[in-house]
Amino acid sequence: MGLCPTVYRFTRKTKCLLLLALCLCVLAWVAAFISGTVKPFELVPTQVQKWERMGSEVEAGLNTEPGGLYTPTELLQTKEKEEEELPKAPCPKKSPLLRGPLPLSFEPALTLGRVEGENGAVSGGQYQPADCVAQQSVAVLIPHRNREKHLLYLLHHLHPFLQRQQLHYAIYIIHQAGEETFNRAKLLNIGYLEALKDYSWDCFIFHDVDLVPENDHNLYTCDQQPKHLVVGRNSTGYKLRYKGYFGGVTALSRQQFLKVNGFPNSYWGWGGEDDDLRKRVELQRMSVVRPPAAIGRYTMVFHQRDNGNEVNKDRMRLLSKTSDMWKKDGLNSCTYQTLSVERPPLYINVTVNIGKPPSTH
Ligand code: BGC
Repeated sequence: MGLCPTVYRFTRKTKCLLLLALCLCVLAWVAAFISGTVKPFELVPTQVQKWERMGSEVEAGLNTEPGGLYTPTELLQTKEKEEEELPKAPCPKKSPLLRGPLPLSFEPALTLGRVEGENGAVSGGQYQPADCVAQQSVAVLIPHRNREKHLLYLLHHLHPFLQRQQLHYAIYIIHQAGEETFNRAKLLNIGYLEALKDYSWDCFIFHDVDLVPENDHNLYTCDQQPKHLVVGRNSTGYKLRYKGYFGGVTALSRQQFLKVNGFPNSYWGWGGEDDDLRKRVELQRMSVVRPPAAIGRYTMVFHQRDNGNEVNKDRMRLLSKTSDMWKKDGLNSCTYQTLSVERPPLYINVTVNIGKPPSTH
């Protein structure tokens, strides 16, 4: 009696009212549970439940709870990031983007700004396909001096051409500083050595600045054997100049070029260095392959012979010594001074001092 005296003081009427109120409460809770508004024992949502709910709201296109743990936009971004990080599949062996022969244009009013605008996906001279892993990583090496307009036309055509081939690539301009006689072969050796400081490229394209490819089936990739890409050009009626011609544009893998010790460094002025490279290839028991004539077609941008690139009168004598010289004169003896390396959007510009031909020492 003394334990709970108030209970005993309730009248019978009060007791009935209290019981009725309790029944109503229970009924209301059961109704809420059946309608799904309330789950038994989980009246406060956990963080995981909040994320799950927001995820389904995002999928359903609802925009609720802006002040929640993640906004729907953040959730979408997180999802995109996860998708980006998924490993990409290799690009197909044959790119579906190839278009075959295309008309070329050489507009006098073309500007570098316009070419940059058309190639927004290229950065620091490099590009890789967004949605697949390229079959090869390719460094295009272009020896250069005083040919700005030719370079612009080449960049204009080469960037979309290489992108249609779904390559991971970079374009290196190797610029000979000063007024000494031009040395194409030595600049190409330097391009190879400098490009390898950036990345372990699979394949190197040794490319004259005045030759523009006409057909994107002419693949800028390396094969089992060194490849000569210029079967014909407009200026010679699209005919191969001679059986052993290996000039203009060639493709050698990193290993193939190393095996022949690169180009000779001793050819100053025009001519002979490409024949020397072919001899080196043959001395290593490799052979030259070419695309079909209908594909290996180029347009040569017209120009006069440059000052400082006169015909090399010594080339025949040098060529008669290739088999003795190839081991001593090449990548392993290429000395130069790098003056600058610049990386504007569309190419890597390596400016070098390569010295002078021996006769003018
Ligand atoms: C030269 C090569 C040149 C070829 C085609 C040859 O006589 O030695 O360097 O590429 O002619 O012009």
